[in-house]
Amino acid sequence: MSDNKKIRKAVLPVAGLGTRFLPATKAMPKEMLTIVDRPIIQHVVDEAKAAGIEHFIFVTGRNKTVIEDHFDKQVELEATLRDRGKTEQLAMLDDLLPEAGQTSYTRQQSPQGLGHAVWCARDLVGNEPFALLLPDVIVQAADQSCMEQMMELYNETGGNIIAVDEVPLEKTSSYGVVKYEEDDKGHKKIDGMVEKPAAGTAPSNLIIMGRYILQPEIFDILETQSAGAGNEIQLTDAMLALMERQDFYACVYEGRSFDCGSKIGFLTANAAFALAREDLAPAFRAELQRLIEEV
Ligand code: G1P
Repeated sequence: MSDNKKIRKAVLPVAGLGTRFLPATKAMPKEMLTIVDRPIIQHVVDEAKAAGIEHFIFVTGRNKTVIEDHFDKQVELEATLRDRGKTEQLAMLDDLLPEAGQTSYTRQQSPQGLGHAVWCARDLVGNEPFALLLPDVIVQAADQSCMEQMMELYNETGGNIIAVDEVPLEKTSSYGVVKYEEDDKGHKKIDGMVEKPAAGTAPSNLIIMGRYILQPEIFDILETQSAGAGNEIQLTDAMLALMERQDFYACVYEGRSFDCGSKIGFLTANAAFALAREDLAPAFRAELQRLIEEV
């Protein structure tokens, strides 16, 4: 293991309006939609926690205060659970709660793209490498969480790490797309990147999935980054500029990602996470089978 600085902080951009999930997201943040019985954002925080993250920085916006409430104590609820002897539920809530001082919130103020959202976290991150997790995406991994697997690669390579997924070529125009070559150590070194390439122009079928480990120099670049695809300040463009000075590696992780920003991804994630739960799987599988046969 090299002497890379430990990754202690994670940035979670949660300012998006969630227009693809209206009316559900009219008054409720899309990050609070549930996958089985916990909000999407809880799944993402759990993944980061499993990788040893100690501080969670939420880049948030108006209408998102319930996320802050979710990661705080709920005194009345806890008192009621205690009165009723619901010790298991109390312990579960306690387990999920970050410690006091482990969360920070800053507001993006206006929707100017992912690059701008990340830049808003610059002071809270400071001069150290950090993890970035996009909460539209959740990952089901068998043993190690996706971010844990990325940390392992980071400890070997240093630099910057991007988790990638393979998708059919015709879907690449909805994502950032990377191109890589294996170096002599067998690491997948990224040598090209483009945000939302026009149909037929993607450099590969490997998309930027939504998990990153980035060096703090990205903030200097984002500071002056002009708008790119979709007229938004794109993180991918800033990473491409940083790639001229620093190495980027692709992490092909073990696990399966779900894009919960799309209805199909969200519904599939609910099914996949329910089928992975011992307490729910047998009954849910039977119901699903019945439904598919009948409908
Ligand atoms: C963002 C990134 C893109 C990445 C995607 C993953 O795009 O800019 O590179 O592939 O997340 O979900 P968005 O989904 O915000 O348009």
